[in-house]
Amino acid sequence: MTRIRCDRTPAWRQLQAAFESSGKQLDVRSALAQDPQRFAQFSQSAPYVFADLSKNRIDAATEQLLLDLAAQCGVAEHRDAMFAGSAINHTEQRPVGHVLLRQPRAAAATANDWERAQREQVHTTLDAMLDYAERVRGDAAITDIVNIGIGGSDLGPQMAVRALGDYASPRQRLHFVSNVDGHELAATLALLKPASTVFLIASKTFTTIETMTNALSAKAWFEAQGGTDIARHFAALTTNVAAAQAFGISTTFGFWDWVGGRYSLWSAIGLPIAIAIGAAAFRELLAGAHAMDVHFRGAPLAQNLPVRLGLLDVWYRNFHGFTSRSIAPYHSALQRLPAYLQQLEMESNGKRVDAQGAALPYCTAPVLWGEPGTNGQHAYFQMLHQGTDVVPLEFIAVKKPHHQLAAHHPLLLANVLAQAQALLMGKDDAGGHRHFPGNRPSTFLLLDELSPAALGALLALQEHRVFVSGSIWNINSFDQWGVELGKVLAKDIAPRLDSGDSTGLDASTAGLLARLRS
Ligand code: F6P
Repeated sequence: MTRIRCDRTPAWRQLQAAFESSGKQLDVRSALAQDPQRFAQFSQSAPYVFADLSKNRIDAATEQLLLDLAAQCGVAEHRDAMFAGSAINHTEQRPVGHVLLRQPRAAAATANDWERAQREQVHTTLDAMLDYAERVRGDAAITDIVNIGIGGSDLGPQMAVRALGDYASPRQRLHFVSNVDGHELAATLALLKPASTVFLIASKTFTTIETMTNALSAKAWFEAQGGTDIARHFAALTTNVAAAQAFGISTTFGFWDWVGGRYSLWSAIGLPIAIAIGAAAFRELLAGAHAMDVHFRGAPLAQNLPVRLGLLDVWYRNFHGFTSRSIAPYHSALQRLPAYLQQLEMESNGKRVDAQGAALPYCTAPVLWGEPGTNGQHAYFQMLHQGTDVVPLEFIAVKKPHHQLAAHHPLLLANVLAQAQALLMGKDDAGGHRHFPGNRPSTFLLLDELSPAALGALLALQEHRVFVSGSIWNINSFDQWGVELGKVLAKDIAPRLDSGDSTGLDASTAGLLARLRS
């Protein structure tokens, strides 16, 4: 399909005009006061997630123009091309198939040829991986599981294992080692015994230097401690099964090049999640994500939550010029969600050229950042309320807690409501130090419970909203060439730390190299 650049559409020009004439002055407080339907019109139920968008700087006319923009940019066609297995990751000539990983075996009649062709291998691998997960869970001798991986081979599984801690078996500890900084692995190894540990070496490519270095050190430690049964104590999760075998690991779970690293927690990369919560709950996670896929694929764009969120992201980035978005999960188990979403948004949409490789005249991914509430309130919320920049905030709240401490949850919910209210309403105090300008936008996502299915749906929602904005921006959201240069240079620099050779280096790097060696 030919994709059309957003800034060349009539809707883009109309949005620019709408922004100048009314959009930039829109006061959400008055809009809410004047329109009793605003909450209903700008809230939306999707599988497992209720979203209130009504505190955002948007009105019906603008949303309609954004929907026109989506239509003119071919977002629905692009989405359908992804589901159909077209090579929409064109710079790597690959389809983008993470949605297929959560499609049930007895899939809907809507399944297309590509889905039907891949489904058998997806489910055979899933069954084998879940069978292994159950064996490790049930193995009384195993007390510790260590996932060694980085980026998408760490952030998703780590975030989900923490998020679903209430569903996990308390008998086994899950550890995540990602950094090549030896402090991390050394601190983890100090807690372990080879006979009671399983190492999962998670790497799509099985070439990532951090993961390979940690894996080699873990294997050396295992053998030095008298461990011999690598097949029992090491498993590899990778698309590069041959490299894993060459490394000496015979227990392997594969996946495919059409699964992007940051979209891979649904594949064999999710094995630590399955070990933590069990096969049935892992299938619920997949089912929740699939429910969101069905919504994204089938709901009209005007009632399609990922579409509405993605369009709002474009409105804020390209018309209001907001440079970041903050995420505030009011659930401490979602502690790693901001880090996971950083990779999802910024590795996917942090691009400066369009699909044809031409430099873009408009901005793409915002900076994404955040911390769980209420902690963030006592750190950087000052800036959100009274700083000079406007940062759209995304609150995530959960109705039902998994603890019995009666005093806490109402207070937590009161805080999340109060923060959204304070950002919106502000407080007049003659413009001085105690003045809150208000009209600061936020979105409120509400889950009934932080269950595996709800988490799955929430994550799929985030994946698809990133798809929508990337699609409008006409970029390839599925490659990540921007991480390559640093990898190449690190390889060049590593031997120089030994030799001291600074030939060809810039003066600053040469100076630092000399200092590090002195
Ligand atoms: O840093 C780039 C990246 O390729 C990410 O996209 C990926 O998630 C991570 O490295 C890890 O890659 P791999 O799973 O191949 O080790």
